[in-house]
Amino acid sequence: MKAFQSIEPDRHDYAGRYKLLTGSVVPRPIAFVTTLQENGLVNAAPYSQFIIVAVEPSLLGFSVGPSPEREKDTLRNIRRTGEFVINTVPEQLATEVQACAETFGPEESEAEATGLQVIASTRVRPPRLLATQIQFECGLHSITAFGASHLVVGRVLVMHAEKGLVSDCKIDARAYRPLGRIGGRSYCRMGEVFSV
Ligand SMILES: Cc1cc2nc3c(=O)[nH]c(=O)nc-3n(C[C@H](O)[C@H](O)[C@H](O)COP(=O)(O)O)c2cc1C
Repeated sequence: MKAFQSIEPDRHDYAGRYKLLTGSVVPRPIAFVTTLQENGLVNAAPYSQFIIVAVEPSLLGFSVGPSPEREKDTLRNIRRTGEFVINTVPEQLATEVQACAETFGPEESEAEATGLQVIASTRVRPPRLLATQIQFECGLHSITAFGASHLVVGRVLVMHAEKGLVSDCKIDARAYRPLGRIGGRSYCRMGEVFSV
């Protein structure tokens, strides 16, 4: 007979629970979020606790976990400016994504430090990342605390997709190459697409 190990997350510390939850909910797509720092520099950080909150209206959300010293820059910037861009991540950007998750101070731009080129957005001030295939320009809908995490929800004002990716509102799954997050420094590529 198939046997199971039963685990109560509450019996584990934060690190244990984090590994149990994030290691089970895989692969996760990655929201590469661009925001503007107070000094005008572009902040770019990856968030893989990323979901479609609603379709009517179009709402996307990501969860910002606690940070030991001070709130993460992305959350602080969104509270202050009310706007952000969610850039989805193609598989070729794994190294840059990992680099942008290292701690950068508010006086540094991850985008500049990792050589990511930005292009102007059309409805919000934070720019988009040129190397990505899809970008969602978002206005802040809400920030809700869930324990030590904050769910940031944005209303999609406009979506940009690389030419050839969308036809009749359908994304070409074979041309779209999103990177998947497993955990730590581990990622995956999209495998075979099949229909049942
Ligand atoms: C692929 C990837 C996904 C991540 N997802 C999350 C996430 O969903 N929530 C979170 O709080 N941190 C996440 N992190 C860690 C943040 O990116 C990291 O704390 C970063 O320094 C935050 O940057 P910021 O202070 O500029 O917002 C992730 C890191 C990586 C590499």
